[in-house]
Amino acid sequence: MKKIQAMVIASTLFATTSVLAHTFDEPNKAIKYRQAAFTMIAGNVSEMGDMVKGKTEWSDVIFAKRANQLSQLTLMPLDAFYVEGSDKGKTNALPEVWKNFPDFEARLAQFQEDAAALASISGKGDKAAIRKAFGKTVKNCKACHTDYKAK
Ligand code: HEC
Repeated sequence: MKKIQAMVIASTLFATTSVLAHTFDEPNKAIKYRQAAFTMIAGNVSEMGDMVKGKTEWSDVIFAKRANQLSQLTLMPLDAFYVEGSDKGKTNALPEVWKNFPDFEARLAQFQEDAAALASISGKGDKAAIRKAFGKTVKNCKACHTDYKAK
C-alpha cells in the first residue's frame, strides 16, 4: 500500500515538473513568462499611481497590498532573461539587454530595491514619504525601457 502511494506521488510530481520545467529552457515560454510578470507589475503600479495622483480615493490598505505585490513581482522577470534563445522571437527586449547584461541586471536590482523600500513604508500612513518612494520606483520603468525595450 505504502509503495503504491509513493509511486502515485512520484508520478504526480514527475507529471507536474515535466509540465513546468520548460519555462526556463524554452525561449517562447520564457518570453511569455517575463512579459506576464511585467504586465502584473504594470497593473499594480497603475492602481497605486491613480491613488498618488488623486484620481482614486486613497486607501492605505490597498496601497500596501499593491506595493507588497509589486515588490514580489520585481523579483520575477530576471530568471527568464537567462534563457538561451529568448533574445529572439516575439520579444520586445532589445539585443542590448544581452550585450550589457551586468548593467541590465544592476537596473533590475535597483528596481527591486526601490520597490522593497516602497513596500516597507507603505501602510504606515506617511503619504509624503510614500509618494517619494513611489516616484523613485517608477523612474526605473522608463529609464530601463529607453535603453532595453523596443517601443
Ligand atoms: C531593468 C529593466 C526594466 C525595468 C526596471 C522595467 N521594465 Fe518593463 N520591460 C523591460 C523589458 C526588457 C521588457 C520586454 C520584455 C520582452 O518582451 O521580452 C519589458 C516589458 C514591459 C511591458 C510589456 C509586457 C508585454 O506584455 O509585452 C510592460 C507593460 C512593462 N514592461 C511595464 C513596466 C513597468 C510599469 C515598470 C516599472 C514599474 C517596468 N516595466 C520596469 C524592462 C524593464
